Amino acid sequence: MRSVIDIRELSVEEIDGLVATAMDIIENPAKYSEACKGKKLATLFFEPSTRTRLSFEAAMYELGGNVLSMASASSSSATKGESVADTAKVISCYADIIAMRHPKEGAPLVAAMNASIPVINAGDGGHNHPTQTLADLLTIHREKGRFNNLTVGFCGDLKFGRTVHSLISALARYEGIKVVLISPDELKLPGYIKKDVMDKAGMAYEETADLMAVMPQLDILYMTRVQGERFFNEEDYLRLRDSYILTPDKLKDAKKDLAILHPLPRVNEIAVAIDDDPRACYFKQVLNGKYMRMALILKLLGITV
Ligand code: CP
Repeated sequence: MRSVIDIRELSVEEIDGLVATAMDIIENPAKYSEACKGKKLATLFFEPSTRTRLSFEAAMYELGGNVLSMASASSSSATKGESVADTAKVISCYADIIAMRHPKEGAPLVAAMNASIPVINAGDGGHNHPTQTLADLLTIHREKGRFNNLTVGFCGDLKFGRTVHSLISALARYEGIKVVLISPDELKLPGYIKKDVMDKAGMAYEETADLMAVMPQLDILYMTRVQGERFFNEEDYLRLRDSYILTPDKLKDAKKDLAILHPLPRVNEIAVAIDDDPRACYFKQVLNGKYMRMALILKLLGITV
């Protein structure tokens, strides 16, 4: 029985395997339509979500399985004080696999330590979001055909953006990756990721506040929302939230084959006018997330098709 809490728990070979399964699902969906017949996924979301919860649920339905859904903490016995550990033990009596989102870093790990079924971290606080990373990786694979030799710009809230932390951790295992960290001073990438992940891997990186200055070198631009829900101070959030707004004029020096990613939801970071640009990949990324979650559910349930 295996859980996935951090993207680094999946080896490069396993990620290649998940990408291959996702590509096969895309090409042969009918082959997978009963793969999880009789299995149940429980989605336990203690924090709001549109994409992650619904794509997990769509993934399980498309595999022929069923879903038990807890869409908010307020509708659960967490409001009565039930612990994450007890919740995990209880849900293990009903379901075959859990996808859990929680505002507290480490909560899905606690669930995994207490559940008797696999637990997938669907986002924990500002820490990690491994299945968003799987969506990002499939998007990079489909747009670029490789994970090596890419210059990837991360722009916006690099401090609280858990999708950024996870994707950098995943990319650190590939050759020839350069990361460009674009943020205001207050929203810089946490030091522990630079030290424990990037420095350890010998990953090349630069930090800047100037998106336009680095735009020409980027193969991928990963835009992010400023995470208002993680600020302690409303005033700081209001001051920083519109630090970067990608508009068509800002792409004038960008590569013709730049891929623009965003984990969504977007607020103001990408003008709607960019959506029709062939370089905008963020809605493709949403769909890729469903395929990778299908592949991961199959892997953790030990089902081969
Ligand atoms: N990308 C992402 O995690 O979106 P949701 O918060 O809507 O799940």
